[in-house]
Amino acid sequence: MISDPFVHTLLEWYPHNKRDLPWRNTKNPYIIWLSEIILQQTRVAQGLPYFEKFLENFPNVEDLANATEDTVMRLWQGLGYYSRARNLHYCAKEIRDMHAGVFPLNYQSLLQLKGVGSYTAAAIASFAFDEPVAVVDGNVFRVMARYFGIATDIAGNSGKKEFEALANTLIPKDRPAEFNQAIMEFGALQCVPKKPVCIQCPMKSACFSFKNDLVDSLPVKIKKLKIKERYFRYALIICDDEVVVKKRGEGDIWQGLHDFPMQELKDPKENCEEMAFLREIENFATSSVNEPLKWYKHILTHQRIFANFVRVIVQKENRNTLQSWVEDNGFQLVRYEKLEQLGKPRLITKFLDDQK
Ligand code: ADE
Repeated sequence: MISDPFVHTLLEWYPHNKRDLPWRNTKNPYIIWLSEIILQQTRVAQGLPYFEKFLENFPNVEDLANATEDTVMRLWQGLGYYSRARNLHYCAKEIRDMHAGVFPLNYQSLLQLKGVGSYTAAAIASFAFDEPVAVVDGNVFRVMARYFGIATDIAGNSGKKEFEALANTLIPKDRPAEFNQAIMEFGALQCVPKKPVCIQCPMKSACFSFKNDLVDSLPVKIKKLKIKERYFRYALIICDDEVVVKKRGEGDIWQGLHDFPMQELKDPKENCEEMAFLREIENFATSSVNEPLKWYKHILTHQRIFANFVRVIVQKENRNTLQSWVEDNGFQLVRYEKLEQLGKPRLITKFLDDQK
């Protein structure tokens, strides 16, 4: 018998209300890990088809480890936060090479893996191995902040520690997996961020926020994001049925994805003649450069990207010259059909769709 009323109500509520989600019917740490990485900053409805696609292509961690980075990025395309995909792949290789293909069996050793933070380690340790460590994600913050009336800023590190400590005192030692799933599900379905139907909530008689009319004020999250605006001008350089692409490197957004040669503009009104690399190829790029009109927009957590495109045509007889320029600059010349298979930022896919 669970003595704490919060835990008791939660565990009563869960079996009658839970969604049937595929990663809940397994104790396989690989499947659980995969689902949790996909679901970070992704809604269940959006993440589900990606989860299925990954599992179909890579039924176990070694299959994922043995895939090429391009294949992984291609399957991830559209989910955003691409460093998650790179870490996923890196971590699969780490498990293959350093752990003989077997997931570490407890919270502390799971934490050592790349891209696995306290949330993911707790999810795997509790769901797969029944270790009593509490998961604390956005849902858990909200449920606990409201129920217990905690006004600590959840964006800060000390806030996170406070919530983790409390959740760890609540988690029942004999039902850790169920408790963790239940509290997240309660946050996802009942104690939702906006307009929760508190009148139908099984926790309402004990909920601090409900009794004190604070449901809309908790949890407290202090935003300190400064959003930077960036302007990219891309060149779609076409030679017959080939196009020049660039694999994005380290130190900026979209690492590992493919886009096109590009210049970042300080001022969105800068005209095309200012583009250094277009001046380099103007000897053999025979078409005129059209002044681009349409801006494509892509919103990231800390950045707002605006991009437009110019089209440059290189005639077939200049292909070899183009090829050497491409090699000198670390670009690649690929066939148009091959472009389809490469992982690309969503903004690039949108632009290419508009060209069809
Ligand atoms: N979001 C993150 N992890 C989840 C899980 N295990 N079940 C449902 N939603 C989730």
